[in-house]
Amino acid sequence: MPYSTLDNITQQAVARWSTTHDPRLRELITKLIPHVHAYAKEVGLTHQEWLAGLNFLARVGQWTTDARGENILLSDVMGLSMLTVMLNDKLPKGATPHTVLGPFYVDDSPELEAGANMAEGVAGEPCFISGQVRNLKGEPIAGATLDMWQADDEGIYEVQLSEKSGPYLRGVYHSGPDGRFLVKTIAPLGYAIPMDGPVGELIKGTDISYFRPAHIHFIMSAPGYQKIITHLFKRGTEYLENDAVYGVKQELIADFHRHEPGVAPTGEKLDTPFWTIEYDFVLAPEGATADAEAKQAVPA
Ligand code: BEZ
Ligand code: FE
Repeated sequence: MPYSTLDNITQQAVARWSTTHDPRLRELITKLIPHVHAYAKEVGLTHQEWLAGLNFLARVGQWTTDARGENILLSDVMGLSMLTVMLNDKLPKGATPHTVLGPFYVDDSPELEAGANMAEGVAGEPCFISGQVRNLKGEPIAGATLDMWQADDEGIYEVQLSEKSGPYLRGVYHSGPDGRFLVKTIAPLGYAIPMDGPVGELIKGTDISYFRPAHIHFIMSAPGYQKIITHLFKRGTEYLENDAVYGVKQELIADFHRHEPGVAPTGEKLDTPFWTIEYDFVLAPEGATADAEAKQAVPA
């Protein structure tokens, strides 16, 4: 092979990396190189810019810990996380769609009874979420798991708190024999994504809105069904159309109803206003995909 030139360096790099042993990794790297090289050529990348870019990535790495997903945040604000979610969402029509996981999930939330409060002692207006978990045929799914988490009224998640004092705004609920569930929490508010790190610095140099619309996170699962990672968003709330991480889907927007003080869905009497949400989740059986559904619809 000749020495490298502007014209042959991409081909040379691809040839070298074609020796990657793992076939999928080989594909990922050899397809990435031409894009990166084409980008550098297109923008006429200077030495200074190249170094600034690498230093930025290094800083993203330095900020990344178990409690702070700055690397994920970078992907989120570039739209890559949501693009990846959508590329891999093969759920059949009618199933509740996925959205981004986000950096604040904690996987050991306490098991809570129907109607128990996952926001015990946390400031905010009480909010009751009820509904049914169903399959694509409309049949109830008993024993489905609703693993939930949300931010407090200052937009803070448990993992962001400097002082930890037990589970904070998270809990695992289950649907009953009729597929129904009942959750007590506080009404979510919109919040800013973390802006104190390198990703925030980059965003501050733009006109991008760095807020997320009011939402609650769910991981829904049930034996024999595909797990979904999703949110419920509040209809009519700010930032639905410019969510900083591109996570909103029409099907995930729910009506939040505000009530004057009175009897809540749990039967308790409240002397403050409260909210209710009724939303049904639809799970697809394991193995069912949109592709398989389309094939079934077209006679051979
Ligand atoms: C979240 O909803 O928790 C979230 C998602 C992506 C980036 C920041 C926060
Ligand atoms: Fe969130």
